[in-house]
Amino acid sequence: MKKFLSIFTLITAILSISNPFQAEAKNMENTKKLVVYFSKTGEQYSVGNITEGNTAIIAKMIAEQTKADLFEVKLKNDTYPAAYKALTEVALAEKKAAARPEIVDDVADFAGYDVVFIGTPNWWADMPMAMYSFIEAHDWKGKTVIPFVTHEGSGLSSIPSKIKNATGAEMADGFEIYGHVAQNDREQAKEEVVNWLKKLGF
Ligand SMILES: Cc1cc2nc3c(=O)[nH]c(=O)nc-3n(C[C@H](O)[C@H](O)[C@H](O)COP(=O)(O)O)c2cc1C
Repeated sequence: MKKFLSIFTLITAILSISNPFQAEAKNMENTKKLVVYFSKTGEQYSVGNITEGNTAIIAKMIAEQTKADLFEVKLKNDTYPAAYKALTEVALAEKKAAARPEIVDDVADFAGYDVVFIGTPNWWADMPMAMYSFIEAHDWKGKTVIPFVTHEGSGLSSIPSKIKNATGAEMADGFEIYGHVAQNDREQAKEEVVNWLKKLGF
C-alpha cells in the first residue's frame, strides 16, 4: 500500500510538471479587454489602395472574438502621404528621430482594463511612432499585454520586446500575419486569429 502510494505521488508530480498548457491557458473569460491599434488606409504594399487598413481588420476580429473594446490610435495632425513609397520615407525619418507625434482622444477608463491587445503594422521592424505616444501616456502596471502585427515578410521582428520595454507589463504570446492575407483572405485570417486566441485561453 505504501509502495502504491509513493508511485501514485510520483506520477502525479510528474504530470503536474509536464503539462505546460495548464500554466499557459489562463482564464481570460472574466477579464476586461481592450484592443488598441494603429492602421493605415491608402496605398499599401501588395494590396493597392485600401479603405480599411490590414491591422484594423485583425483588430476588429480580435475584438469580436474576445468581446473587447476597440481603440484606434490616430494622429492629431495626420500629414502622412497616401502613396506607399513616400510614406515609407516619412516613417523612416520619424523612427530615426524617435518622434512622438501627438495623438487624438483617449480611451475612457484605461485603468479598468486587465488585458490590452496592442496591434500594429510592422514599419521598418518597429511600430509607427504614434504607438509609443500612446504607450508612454499610460500606466501599464498589473495589465497583461498581447501584441499582434501585420507585415509583408518581417513577421513580429522585435516588436514584442519593444512593447515589453515600453510598457513593463506582463506579455502573452503575440500573433503575426501578412497584411495581404488579412486584406484579401478574411476566412484564412479569422481561422488563424481564432486558433491563436484559443491557445491563449480565450
Ligand atoms: C512605412 C512602412 C514601413 C514598412 N516596413 C515594413 C517592414 O519593415 N517589414 C515588413 O514586413 N513590412 C513592412 N511594411 C508593410 C506593412 O507592415 C504591411 O503592409 C501592413 O500590413 C500594413 O498594415 P496597415 O494597413 O494596418 O497599416 C511597411 C509598410 C509601411 C507603410
